[in-house]
Parts: sequence; C-alpha cells; structure tokens
Amino acid sequence: MNLQEKIEDLRKRTMSDLRAVADEKTLNNLRTVMLGKKGELTEILKGMKDLTNEERPVIGALANAFRDEFGVKFEAKKVEIEEALMNAALESETLDVTLPGDVQKKGSRHILTQTQEEIEEIFLGMGYEIVDGYEVETDHYNFERMNLPKDHPARDMQDTFYITNEVLLRTHTSPMQARTMDAHDFSKGGLRMIAPGRVYRRDTDDATHSHQFHQIEGLVVDKNITMADLKGTLDLVMKKMFGQDRELRWRPSYFPFTEPSVEVDISCFKCGGKGCNVCKHTGWIEILGAGMVHPNVLEMSGLDASVYSGFAFGLGQERIAMLRYGINDIRGFYQGDVRFLEQFGK
Ligand code: DAH
Repeated sequence: MNLQEKIEDLRKRTMSDLRAVADEKTLNNLRTVMLGKKGELTEILKGMKDLTNEERPVIGALANAFRDEFGVKFEAKKVEIEEALMNAALESETLDVTLPGDVQKKGSRHILTQTQEEIEEIFLGMGYEIVDGYEVETDHYNFERMNLPKDHPARDMQDTFYITNEVLLRTHTSPMQARTMDAHDFSKGGLRMIAPGRVYRRDTDDATHSHQFHQIEGLVVDKNITMADLKGTLDLVMKKMFGQDRELRWRPSYFPFTEPSVEVDISCFKCGGKGCNVCKHTGWIEILGAGMVHPNVLEMSGLDASVYSGFAFGLGQERIAMLRYGINDIRGFYQGDVRFLEQFGK
C-alpha cells in the first residue's frame, strides 16, 4: 500500500467510525487516535519530510483535505450528540401541566405596618424625616421634658409599666419631641419629623383598649410656625387618608406639652356627616390630638421660645386603621389570626 492508498484507507475507516459514534467520549477518543501526538494522521504528516519533491504536494494536499473534512464532520457529530442528549433530557423531564399545582400562600405586610408606611409616605412627600425612638424611656423624657413634672395630675391618665422609678415603658411617642429637638442643629434650619412606634399603658384590654399600641408623633419647629401651618398640614394629611371631601373640626383641649391644645375631628367618611354608627350619630369622628408646642418644652431643649415656635400632633395607628377598615376589636391586630390578617393582604 502506498502512502496515498494508506491515507484513503484511513479516511474511509475514520469516516465510518465517526458515523457510528453515539457519545461524546468515543468521539473525543477518535480525535485522539487521529490527531493526538501519536495519532495515525499525525504520523503520516510527520513522515512528509521523507517524501520526494514530487510526492510531497500531492500527499500534503490529500492529508490536509482529510484533516479539514474530519474537523467539519467532528463538529457536526458533536452538535448531533448534544442535541440528542438535550432531547432525551426534555423527554424524560416532561411536566404534566394539567396536574393541580401546590398553591403557594403569599404573605403580606401586617395591616398596621401598611397603615404606618402609608402615613410615612405622605409625610416624606412633605419633607419630614422619620425617626425611631426608644420603647424603654426615662421618666425624664416621657414626662418631665413633656412638661409633666413629678406629681402632675395629668400623669394619672398615662399610667404605665415601670422598670425602676426613673425608667419605664413609654406611654406615648411624645418624648421623641424632646429627643429630636435636643439632637437637631437649628443653626442649619428648622425641624420636621414624625416618630412612629409602640407605646404602653397600664390598661385592661378590651375591644378598644390595649396595654400596647402604636402612635405616630409629629413635630415641626422653626421660626414663625403658626397654628395656620398646623391646620393646613393636618387638613392635607387627613384628606389624603380619608378622602378629599373630609372636613376637620377643631375643639379646644388640654395637653401639658401644647398651648393652645386642640382635639381634631373629621367629618364622618361613612355617612358624610348625617350621623351613623361609625360616628356615633354625631357626624364627627375624633381622630387626633395636637397643638402649638408649649414654650416650656421648647426652652427645655435650649430653644428661645420668643424666636422659635412649633406645632405637634399625635395620632393612634390602630384607631386610624380601625376607622378606615371598619375593624371593631383592637385585639385583632395582635392575635396573629390569619383569617383576620388575610383580609388586608396586598
Ligand atoms: N401624647 C398624646 C397622648 O398620647 C397625644 C398627643 C396629643 C401628642 C397632642 C401630641 C400633641 O404631640 O400635640 O395622648
């Protein structure tokens, strides 16, 4: 057999081997046998140097053509094997899409969290900062800095859980007024904040009372803040929360930390003011307490009350949610009963 015949023979064998290959390993072996260091074609190419000048171009062309053909068919075979593998996998892993699936129960944020976030959004839009407070507070911030000195009779309305004589669970979010004023650099401008959070009272739990509930404190302190700013702000917020047709009613009230103090009612969103069970047939719903920050409170934070003034308000998150969603028992918020919670899933 001369070299030309040898190449032709090798080509035929290789091509028929290649056609028979059915897996990647055998395919790669075939390449090694052909083109590896000691491969059959490699050996032929190595022997080219011993050929005569006439033979060399002929054999060279033949060997190169064979190598190119092998390359092309090798790649085609590789693709064919990969496709076969993929098809086999697809076939063995088919899903019966008509089978009933596992229903994935989606959780949602608690209705109080949703309410809080909604209120936060409104105030963020007006440039307020949101601050976090301490649930374990000192008597100093919870009462004294709120203008409720020791033995002040108004302390009775906010009896709470004492840890020591001076440390207690806060009865309201109002201590955050003093804390944020203390921390604020008024040389850089006024203060606008809301402070949401849990508060505690020594109450007997019933449908409308809980020993633990949530408030949102609001405070604005700057030069030239007036009651008109308070009215405009709350008017806007309450309309966003309860509808554009709502009206606010302002009644004089008393809080030690504001002067003057007001209690704010909104016109009933259920009956529009005619009288119904939601507004207890008065047409009005009591919604929050507010007022102009008492000069003593400003002065205790080192502010000159003849230069600075401010307004503050405090609202109960549960009360807002109960009114908006017609919830008639506050205990539903804390019992973790999914049948209650699911109703507000968003
Ligand atoms: N801290 C009061 C309470 O818990 C609510 C309150 C009323 C807060 C008037 C205020 C305010 O900031 O101005 O009953």
